[in-house]
Amino acid sequence: MKQIKIFDTTLRDGEQSPGCSMNLREKIEVAKCLEKMKVDIIEAGFAISSPGDFESVNTIAKTVKDCTVASLARSTVKDIDAAWEAVKVAADPRIHLFIATSPLHMEYKLKMTPEQVLKKTEEMVKYAAKYCSNIEFSAEDATRSDWDFLSQVVNTAIKCGATTVNIPDTVGYTTPAEMQALIEYLIERTENPDNVDFSVHCHNDLGMAVANALAGVKGGATQIECTVNGLGERAGNTSLEEVVMAMRTRPDVFTGTTRLDTTQIYRTSKTVYNIIGQKAPLNKPIVGKNAFAHESGIHQHGVLANKLTYEILTPESVGIHANNIVLGKHSGKHAFETRLSEMGYTLDADELLRSFEEFKVLCDKKKTVSDADIEAIVLHKSAVETAGDSGDYALDWFAVHTSNFTTATSTVCLKKGDEKIEGVSLGDGPIDASFKAIDTIINPVEHTFDNYTIHSTSEGKDTLGDVSVKLSANGRSYSGRGLSTDIIEASIKAYLAALHKLQSAAEREAEAK
Ligand code: KIV
Ligand code: ZN
Repeated sequence: MKQIKIFDTTLRDGEQSPGCSMNLREKIEVAKCLEKMKVDIIEAGFAISSPGDFESVNTIAKTVKDCTVASLARSTVKDIDAAWEAVKVAADPRIHLFIATSPLHMEYKLKMTPEQVLKKTEEMVKYAAKYCSNIEFSAEDATRSDWDFLSQVVNTAIKCGATTVNIPDTVGYTTPAEMQALIEYLIERTENPDNVDFSVHCHNDLGMAVANALAGVKGGATQIECTVNGLGERAGNTSLEEVVMAMRTRPDVFTGTTRLDTTQIYRTSKTVYNIIGQKAPLNKPIVGKNAFAHESGIHQHGVLANKLTYEILTPESVGIHANNIVLGKHSGKHAFETRLSEMGYTLDADELLRSFEEFKVLCDKKKTVSDADIEAIVLHKSAVETAGDSGDYALDWFAVHTSNFTTATSTVCLKKGDEKIEGVSLGDGPIDASFKAIDTIINPVEHTFDNYTIHSTSEGKDTLGDVSVKLSANGRSYSGRGLSTDIIEASIKAYLAALHKLQSAAEREAEAK
C-alpha cells in the first residue's frame, strides 16, 4: 500500500468560490477540524491576496502543529515573499507556487511564450527554495497543456527544488483514462520520481473530479488535493470525503492508504456546511442525510438480514452514530460532554459551558433534545454571539406585532458593550420589519440581500429553527446563521451574524486603504 497524502484546500480553493467566504474565526475552526482529521497538508489561503488572507494564513500557521501549512503564490517575487512571511512560523511550512502551462493561458492570460514560462519556473522555484525546503509547484491548466512541454516544466521545477509537483485539471476537462495516462507519462519522464510527490488537483465541471483524482493515484500520484464537501471554484473540487472513502473501501483497486481519521469526516463536513450556511444535498455521498438511509422494503429486509447486502461502508466509519438515549433537562454536564465526545466534538471549557447552558435553556422549551439539536447548538455559535462579548452588536430583546390584516411592526433592541439601542420599523411581515429595524440601528454598508432559508433541526413541532442569511457586497458573500425555537429570533440572529461579517470586512478594507 503506498501512502497517499491528503492536501486540503478548503480554505483556499474552497473559500475563494462564491458564497463560501469565511472570517478568521471560522477559518481557524475549520483548520482545527482538518488537523484533528489528520489531513497531511492544509492550504490555508493565498497570502498576497488581501491583508485578511495574510492574517488568516499566518494565524493558522501558528495554530496548527500536526499538519504542513501551505500558502498559495503566483510565480512572482512579491507573492512568494508574502507566502513565506505568512507560513514561516508553521511547524512544517510549505510554499505552493504556480504558473499556467496551457497554450490558451500562456497566450491570453500570461502573455508569455513557452520559453518565458520555462524560465520563470526556473527562477521562481529557485527563489522559493531559498526560503523553504518544502516547495510545491503547480502547472495551472496542466491537462490542456502540451504533454512534452509540461514534462519540461515539471523537470525544471524539480531540478530547481520543487518537492511536490501538482497537475491541476483547472477547468475540470479531463477524463479518468487521460489523467492516469498523463501522470504515468510525466513520471516516466522524470529522472528521480521517487524523490518527488506527484499530485492531482481536479475540478468537478463535468462531475469527474473524484474519478479523475483516483485515476491520478492509479497513474502514480502520491498526493490528492481536495476540499471538504467538494467546495471550490465553479462546480467545485475533488470531495475529500468521497475520495478518501473510495480508497478506504476499495484498497484492492487503488492500493493506496491515507493517514486520515475518517471518523472525523462527518463532524468536519457539518462544520464547513454550517459556516457557509448550506446543508448537504440529501443524496450527497458519505455525508448526505440519505447516504446511509434504507427506505425501500427490499433494502430494509436485506440490511436486517445482513448489513453487507446494501451497505459498502458503515456510518460509524465516517463518524455518524445512531444514538437512542435521549438527553433532557435532568441530564448533567458530564452526560452532555460524554454525548458530545461520542459525536466527535471536544470543546474547550468555555465552549462547553456555553453550549451546556444553551442546552439547558432548550430543555425547558423542548421535551426531548436530539443529537441533531445538540449538534446545532455546538455548531451554530453565530459570529454575533461571540462578537457580542467583544463589543459588537448582539440581540438584547425584540417585540413584533403582526397579523394577516395589519402591517407588521418590529421593535428590536441591540446591545453593544454596555450601550442599548432600540430601532423600530414597519415591514412586509415580521421578519422584514425586524431586519429593517436592525438597519435603522446599524446603518449597514451597501449590500445585496441574496438568500434566506429556514430549516428545522429535528422532528416535532417544537423543533429548533435554523435560519441562514446570505448577503453580498463587492463580489464577496457573507453568511450568518441563527438558531432558536422562535423563528423570528433565529432570523434576527442570522441577519446580525451576516451583517457582522459584512461590516468587519468593510472596516478591514477601509483600514487597508
Ligand atoms: O485549479 C487550479 O489550477 C488551482 C491551482 C492554483 C493549483 O487551483
Ligand atoms: Zn483549483
